[in-house]
Amino acid sequence: MSTQPAAPGAAPLSSAPPAKLSTALPTELARPIATTLAAFEASRAAGADEDVHMVAAVVDCVVSALSAPGALVADPFAGFGTTLARAAALGRRTFGVELLPERVELVRRLVPSAQVIEGDARELLRLARTATPTVDAGSVDLILTSPPYMTANNHPADPLTAYEHDTGDYARYLAELGLVAAQCARLVRPGGFVVWNVADILHHGHTTHLIVDCGKVLDRHFTRVGVTEIAWNVYPHDLVADALLVFQRQ
Ligand SMILES: C[S@@+](CC[C@H](N)C(=O)[O-])C[C@H]1O[C@@H](n2cnc3c(N)ncnc32)[C@H](O)[C@@H]1O
Repeated sequence: MSTQPAAPGAAPLSSAPPAKLSTALPTELARPIATTLAAFEASRAAGADEDVHMVAAVVDCVVSALSAPGALVADPFAGFGTTLARAAALGRRTFGVELLPERVELVRRLVPSAQVIEGDARELLRLARTATPTVDAGSVDLILTSPPYMTANNHPADPLTAYEHDTGDYARYLAELGLVAAQCARLVRPGGFVVWNVADILHHGHTTHLIVDCGKVLDRHFTRVGVTEIAWNVYPHDLVADALLVFQRQ
């Protein structure tokens, strides 16, 4: 794991919004979260393809630790809806954005209570204003997401077009994730949390350090609370490290 070890935890955050910024991860996120390939495969949404690695138990852990029942939880890369489904099951309100219409339809079927908008996360704030009811800037309590991944080498497909166009460029990819992060920073309320799940990838003998690279992008927009390792018994696909980057808005 190429990331810094997580700091020892403070008391879990449970109900009221924190009065001041957290300086340490809550207990649930202050140590690696162990998971298995079997648990992931059992909890994966039907039809989900191999670029999706979000584990339901990891979502439960983050949502419980960093939001209260009734809170608004958002995912700008909603995918197959793991974040929204688990957040709704835990009594949170949910809002998501997803580029691919067939995935939007799937999430709407899976999570009827979720507000899911078809569109591009690079336009997150504009899309949030079209939701019913409107999701206003500063109204989201927790953003938990996992962006589409990219390797720095041999990767013509552009992740932010859902790999549908061969316009991929690693530096531009990171810059565009920065655009999404900037809008997450506007959407989340002061004191609210932003958690991105990202992984390092070994591809054609070269490791792309997405955890560090995305961390640098996100550090420009939020205060970093810590990094939680997701410890797999066997990594899925070509992952070689997996982490939750945990931030808070000042
Ligand atoms: C890693 S998956 C998210 C997985 C999700 N957390 C889950 O567990 O199902 C990334 C998702 O982002 C979507 N996506 C790609 N580019 C996008 C964009 N520009 N705006 C919104 N969604 C996008 C992809 O279609 C994909 O479903």
